[in-house]
Amino acid sequence: MNGGPERLSLRRPDDWHLHLRDGPMLQAVVPYTARVFGRAIVMPNLVPPVTTAAAARAYRERILAAVPAGCRFTPLMTCYLTDRTDVEDLAAGFAEATWVAAKLYPAGATTNSAAGVTDVSALDAALARMAEMGMPLLVHGEVTDRSIDVFDREAVFLERVLAPIVRRVPGLKVVVEHATTEEAVRFVEEGPDTVAATITAHHLLLNRNALFEGGLRPHHYCLPVLKRERHRLALRRVATSGSPKFFLGTDSAPHRTGDKECACGCAGVFSAPAALELYAEVFAEENALDRLEAFASLNGPRFYGLPANQDKVTLCRREAVVPSSIPLADGSTVTPFRGGGSVFWSLDRG
Ligand code: DOR
Ligand code: ZN
Repeated sequence: MNGGPERLSLRRPDDWHLHLRDGPMLQAVVPYTARVFGRAIVMPNLVPPVTTAAAARAYRERILAAVPAGCRFTPLMTCYLTDRTDVEDLAAGFAEATWVAAKLYPAGATTNSAAGVTDVSALDAALARMAEMGMPLLVHGEVTDRSIDVFDREAVFLERVLAPIVRRVPGLKVVVEHATTEEAVRFVEEGPDTVAATITAHHLLLNRNALFEGGLRPHHYCLPVLKRERHRLALRRVATSGSPKFFLGTDSAPHRTGDKECACGCAGVFSAPAALELYAEVFAEENALDRLEAFASLNGPRFYGLPANQDKVTLCRREAVVPSSIPLADGSTVTPFRGGGSVFWSLDRG
């Protein structure tokens, strides 16, 4: 570990990309996020997906019912875009603050994306309306073309799909979710101020070797998949640079342990139990702890046009063990990222 402060206070952070699921999984995972984050952008890829404002309101109520007493946590809802998105419902849901953004999943790109968008040109009216209203488009940026190597699908998406959208719809706020490549970093850095990105802790901590370390590691499998070391280094550079275009989004995506540890394991890393601690580790390694607050607590709200949280959290340099397994009420379990291992920063519960 590098020298540096033993304690670090920062404005309460937010998680700008999170999966909470539903039912017993929702009940089990919400407390991990609510204990530290003030708000989170909640992904809409449920089964069935959250495609209407009415469904988003009902889902928000289920989330709030799972927040432990004493936590003030605000879920920020999103609309799952499809080929048949109703532009009036999309706009009305944004105007009444039911949701704050819309998520573009290319159909078939990832978990529960089957109902996603097959042809982005079908979105033209929705995107124009969103630009007018200042409603951000959150993008799972991977092409689904099976002939494209899985490690190249983000870079190809940016060139083939997202660059034309940014050109066609000036003023549209766009978040490249879970950026994983040098190409994504460049796309965001060189794009207009309306283009930003979230970065996960696991893409800052691991490269693709971690998928195969001593055997197949299903708990490191996510989409977009981990990339080469040079991409990880590019992500670390921008995350810790202080640039307002990059902010914290864990993409914490819980799956039951049995759905990960099997012949065709689901994509998703469940990092919520140690999320802020893991980011702090990265920033400490980069001697950039003084920039963690911008990344975790300031850049996101600024991009979304929301106030930063008023209260603070304190991290201290203290080792803690991440639980190796978390029980669900239905008898199954979920396995956290680095489960059974240590984190080197802990939240000070004061
Ligand atoms: O790894 C992932 N898991 N990537 C995604 O895009 C979706 C997520 C999930 O919902 O499990
Ligand atoms: Zn996600």
